[in-house]
Amino acid sequence: MEYRGYDSAGVAVADQGRVSVAKRAGKLANLEDRIEEIGADKLAGTTAIGHTRWATHGRPVDENAHPHLSYDGKVAIVHNGIIENFAALRAELERDGVELVSETDSEVAAHLMAKAYNEGETAGDFEASALAVVNRLEGAFTLLFLHADHPDRIVAARRSTPLLIGVGDGEMFLGSDVAAFIEYTKEAVELGQDNVVVIDRDGYRILNLDGSEATGRPFTIDWDLEAAEKGGYDSFMMKEINEQPAAVRDTLAGHCQDGRIVLDEQNFSDEFLKSIDQVFVVACGSAYHSGLLAKYAIEHWARVPVQIEVASEFRYRDPVVDARTLVIAISQSGETADTLEAVRHAKSQGAKVLAVCNTNGSQIPRESDGVLYTHAGPEIGVASTKAFLAQVAANYIVGLAVAQAKGTKYPDEIREIWETLEEIPGKIEPLLEAAGQCEEIAHHLGALPTMLFLGRGVGFPVALEGALKLKELAYIHAEGFPAGELKHGPIALIEDDLPVVVIVPSPRGVPQLHSKIVSNIQEIRARGAKTIVIAEEGDTAVEPYANWLIRMPQTSTIMQPLLATVPLQFLAAYIARECGNEDIDKPRNLAKSVTVE
Ligand code: F6R
Repeated sequence: MEYRGYDSAGVAVADQGRVSVAKRAGKLANLEDRIEEIGADKLAGTTAIGHTRWATHGRPVDENAHPHLSYDGKVAIVHNGIIENFAALRAELERDGVELVSETDSEVAAHLMAKAYNEGETAGDFEASALAVVNRLEGAFTLLFLHADHPDRIVAARRSTPLLIGVGDGEMFLGSDVAAFIEYTKEAVELGQDNVVVIDRDGYRILNLDGSEATGRPFTIDWDLEAAEKGGYDSFMMKEINEQPAAVRDTLAGHCQDGRIVLDEQNFSDEFLKSIDQVFVVACGSAYHSGLLAKYAIEHWARVPVQIEVASEFRYRDPVVDARTLVIAISQSGETADTLEAVRHAKSQGAKVLAVCNTNGSQIPRESDGVLYTHAGPEIGVASTKAFLAQVAANYIVGLAVAQAKGTKYPDEIREIWETLEEIPGKIEPLLEAAGQCEEIAHHLGALPTMLFLGRGVGFPVALEGALKLKELAYIHAEGFPAGELKHGPIALIEDDLPVVVIVPSPRGVPQLHSKIVSNIQEIRARGAKTIVIAEEGDTAVEPYANWLIRMPQTSTIMQPLLATVPLQFLAAYIARECGNEDIDKPRNLAKSVTVE
């Protein structure tokens, strides 16, 4: 589970009336060292909880690592999310003489649990005590409780953050994601909001917060362990870049039947899609960049105005959405808190929300009116690659479905666009060969201080995505601009040897756009920049102005981002290595699934 956070890690084991804990700041390897130090036999037992942390409250140091122990040493907890009323609870505990040893919001849950178990109405009752504690918490949390007096069970709860049960034979699991237990069982159960679950080796019981019985949704996991492993590559990210042809192909599969685009969603009938008068896209990071491309595609094909907003800004701005608005929420993980809150806000305003998501059973699709799954498979590398391309493909499916419903494209035009889209996986394949060229460029550039990315039209979101990849992997300042904006300011940044990546639109598309960007390349070259030009095969006009030229297969203008992004992913990965950042799967300060706002 390290991809969810790797600031610190820890485990607690309940056995023979006591709870033993090992924890350490840093990656999992540090925890392994710690366990060796104290002796693995000290952590023997058959009931345990573990955690990998992404710091929210409190620095990434040993004391703030989970599990946290209660004042009497009998309760251990791990927590994902944020307990919003922790300050009041902490003050209350301190008034009662409890000494808190960490800076986290999470630790209060351990002490509250011990108090509930030791005193008052719920004394001696593990489950009732857990229910009492959870009912006092505000915010988002997945909490697991372990108690020394009950070494045969774990009590857990969730609100707005993920928790799944893995059902084994004579063994049971809990995890924020199926990857936690996929090695042991393929049978899983999804929990509802505000559920408490009790597991022992033989089974599970799900409760509502009032203690009444609840039920979960059982499902069988169709990912195998191998899919979640590196498959011969030196990093998950490299493996995932190479899986992009399959990610796009699998995402498109089944969405065009007898020449008609199919969304698979009852709630998004042709009547509804016909009735919408605007589209709003909400997403974060790379998913947001894929959303920018949704805007180009939907406006071009369906002639409906599309607005796009970073999800964390959306609900605080009072956006104008109503029952005739289609909101598209794009998220690989389906757990991003900012996007989830945007979905909730959109729904509260009467809009219908379509999730574009890569993770089955996650929160965003569950709270949306419908979902279009991207079938990229598990994305473990923190920097999004294959999920991004799959999102772009899925967004294009939505664009075509709206165009079909509104009749803004004739069926044969839709078929033609679909055929171009279906050719994309085969055109990504040769681009995977550009890895070597990108490695050479990266080696030549070395550890550079800054880099610019320029694009026009659909090349602009690609430029933004290329800059984001470089920032997060190589820790280098990078910016993406629409090439036409250069002359309005950014051109002042150009100086000798500054590397600039230029994504060149096809000369077979809008000809003025192509010739304008060729002029832009000349302008920056004249000022000393080193140009890395990404252009389609046969575009000879750019040759004199490129220090390096990366070729991509020809396709239509709107499809080009699905190709042009690939070399930028390689470039970022290789430049990161030149800068000494070997672990490109886990860039510093980041987490794969950002479940806090
Ligand atoms: C960048 C990256 C992030 C995510 C963003 C949204 O490489 O991975 O910017 O795209 O945090 O995550 P999801 O798609 O899970 O909502």
